[in-house]
Amino acid sequence: KMTVGLVGWRGMVGSVLMQRMQEEQDFDRFEAVYFTTSQAGQAGPDGQPLQSAHDIETLKKLDAVITCQGGDYTQDVYPKLRQAGWQGYWIDAASTLRMEDDSIIVLDPVNRAVIDKGLSSGVKTFVGGNCTVSLMLMGLGGLFEHKMVEWLSSMTYQAASGSGAKHMRELLNQMGDLRDSVANELADPASAILDIDRQVAARMRSAEFPTDQFGVPLAGSLIPYIDKQLDNRQSKEEWKGFVETNKILGRGANPIPVDGLCVRIGSMRCHSQAFTIKLREDVPLDEIEGAIAAHNQWVSVVPNEREASMTELSPTAVTGTMNVPVGRLRKMNMGPQYLSAFSVGDQLLWGAAEPLRRMLNVLLE
Ligand code: HSE
Repeated sequence: KMTVGLVGWRGMVGSVLMQRMQEEQDFDRFEAVYFTTSQAGQAGPDGQPLQSAHDIETLKKLDAVITCQGGDYTQDVYPKLRQAGWQGYWIDAASTLRMEDDSIIVLDPVNRAVIDKGLSSGVKTFVGGNCTVSLMLMGLGGLFEHKMVEWLSSMTYQAASGSGAKHMRELLNQMGDLRDSVANELADPASAILDIDRQVAARMRSAEFPTDQFGVPLAGSLIPYIDKQLDNRQSKEEWKGFVETNKILGRGANPIPVDGLCVRIGSMRCHSQAFTIKLREDVPLDEIEGAIAAHNQWVSVVPNEREASMTELSPTAVTGTMNVPVGRLRKMNMGPQYLSAFSVGDQLLWGAAEPLRRMLNVLLE
């Protein structure tokens, strides 16, 4: 059996990973060693003492490491471990190593061939993709597989969880704060809605409104910027859309243009995306729907109807599930080669934890 070190298993993504590994009985297939950055020696989930995640000598004995500890940990420990001569498999949720030449971004339902080729040529470093990118490819993989896409624009509606656990709490506190600020007026059906609205706006702009994590209000509002500012006027999240999509697809030399704006909205853990897709040819809509639906077992096509879209194509419907529904499919006014689509996916499952546990399972096959 392989010996696999687990790092960062207690955080939000790590906890989702642990839960998925338990559900799928992954732990029967390898020997787990639990690591910690702060509580070495205390009992781990298997009753054994936790190992120090900075102890290179202990890490060196592992066949594989799977880490959700974050980018700073990767930046610190990964080079030391490789310099110490370690040849094991490093499976990582953080973005640090994603664009390195000797790493592969893993999303096996989409790029199993790229993964297999990498494994046979000795690649040992496997990184989960950015959540919007992975969810876009899980939804639209069929269009890429059938070489239908000339270019793609994705406008995102990203959940609070993408920023972290504290941000999810802050979103809820903001929601509650706003509601509480007008509780009396809401209880009175005769109160004027414009008075309520004025009070809510004043509350959102006040110094007391809880914005420590996001920096600005999200509840009742939105944030049209995600991740760092780059010199080319893209946000880092928007930059990832192009580079990661093409790296996952193994198209570094012949990239498909991908671009759009990334926006944070007040959903909990589902990222949604609205797509404008330029098709290489005028493919009939039923062929398009067939290609999307056949690509993997988690994607589904939601009929482009009002009721189905409202009930099946929302964060509420999808959250906590592996489903990636794609809907609002139609040809646009710009012409028969222009396709619109909308997708929803759980940012912590396919967007973060699931591709990692599946990569480990590829190694265990
Ligand atoms: N960067 C993503 C977000 C999460 O902020 O929503 C992780 O890929």
